[in-house]
Amino acid sequence: MLVTLISFVILFTYQVAAFHFLGGTITWRPENISASGNPVKIIIIQTYSWTDGRIVCTPTAIANSNLINYRTYSTLATDTLKCLSNCGSTSSGYIPPLIRPICTDQSTLVGTVVGQRSDIEWLYLNDNFTVGYTDNGWRPLPTITDATYQWCLSTNINLYLRTDGYYNTAPVATVMSPINIPQNVPQTIPIPVSDANGDNVRCRWSEGATECGLVFPTVGGGNYSLPSNITLSSDCIIVVTGDIIDNWYAITVMIAEFENRKSQFHTGNHTQVMNMTSVDSRFLDPKY
Ligand SMILES: *[C@@H]1O[C@H](CO)[C@@H](O)[C@H](O)[C@H]1NC(C)=O
Ligand SMILES: *[C@@H]1O[C@H](CO)[C@@H](O)[C@H](O)[C@H]1NC(C)=O
Ligand SMILES: *[C@@H]1O[C@H](CO)[C@@H](O)[C@H](O)[C@H]1NC(C)=O
Ligand SMILES: *[C@@H]1O[C@H](CO)[C@@H](O)[C@H](O)[C@H]1NC(C)=O
Ligand SMILES: *[C@@H]1O[C@H](CO)[C@@H](O)[C@H](O)[C@H]1NC(C)=O
Ligand SMILES: *[C@@H]1O[C@H](CO)[C@@H](O)[C@H](O)[C@H]1NC(C)=O
Repeated sequence: MLVTLISFVILFTYQVAAFHFLGGTITWRPENISASGNPVKIIIIQTYSWTDGRIVCTPTAIANSNLINYRTYSTLATDTLKCLSNCGSTSSGYIPPLIRPICTDQSTLVGTVVGQRSDIEWLYLNDNFTVGYTDNGWRPLPTITDATYQWCLSTNINLYLRTDGYYNTAPVATVMSPINIPQNVPQTIPIPVSDANGDNVRCRWSEGATECGLVFPTVGGGNYSLPSNITLSSDCIIVVTGDIIDNWYAITVMIAEFENRKSQFHTGNHTQVMNMTSVDSRFLDPKY
């Protein structure tokens, strides 16, 4: 099962954020989609959004592709994308890359800085493991009482061959946080998903620790991180009506990609058996 993680924030009105992290995505793909070698060259792409000023990217730094200036967040200098589960023989070849990204964007108006980095890994056939980045410093959410504001982004890397004989490619969701929504007006927010293999892509809420679903629970044990009026359809469309001005919410979504292999996919309390090469993705989405 391949997991791509996307985080995004929906906000109502801009206010100066007191916390530095705003979300991100981790995805991966073979450098050459037709590659058949073992080991195979895999590119891991990490994209993060930060509060402008807490993390700094000047126009010059963006033009020169400099690394982000992490200011007081000194652990960012050495933080790595760690193997979180199924580590060992099923993660052979994996050398944790750094987190610290290259400056790609900055917006004073939106209050964000965006950074991205790509790293090459030589991984082996049948590797199947989860990598992730967890830390503190998410912004406060009205529905979460955990004072450390922990976040969690993870991606499952799965190098089983597809039925067409090629390695898989994780689907990509190009949602960047935060997303600003108005109060009391229903908003339809399609999650722009794509998949290089042309597979069928479906969405559902994340569940459980390995999907990072416990940090911002969307199912089980209460809907801690969700606004009161939100739905996610399996075709990756969120419909949400923001209720309270200045509230932020986080959502975690799993994106699954279906090829010709039977597997299970559930939306709400339905479980469907479908043909799939599963790719899971997940993003979180606070609203404001
Ligand atoms: C991609 O891999 C295929 C199969 O090994 C090879 O024929 C092709 O030349 C490779 N393309 C690039 C750009 O390396
Ligand atoms: C990959 O590992 C996960 C976790 O152990 C497991 O649930 C899953 O079935 C594995 N995938 C395959 C295709 O075996
Ligand atoms: C909840 O969302 C639906 C659909 O977006 C909308 O029609 C309805 O007015 C919303 N309800 C409230 C209480 O905001
Ligand atoms: C979460 O919200 C959905 C939709 O409102 C609801 O069907 C479900 O029962 C809730 N789950 C929990 C554990 O509260
Ligand atoms: C989920 O199960 C509950 C309780 O059985 C039911 O009321 C609800 O309609 C079901 N939801 C869906 C989407 O089937
Ligand atoms: C699933 O795979 C079977 C056998 O390959 C095929 O007959 C069926 O049409 C497929 N179903 C879907 C929904 O792709």
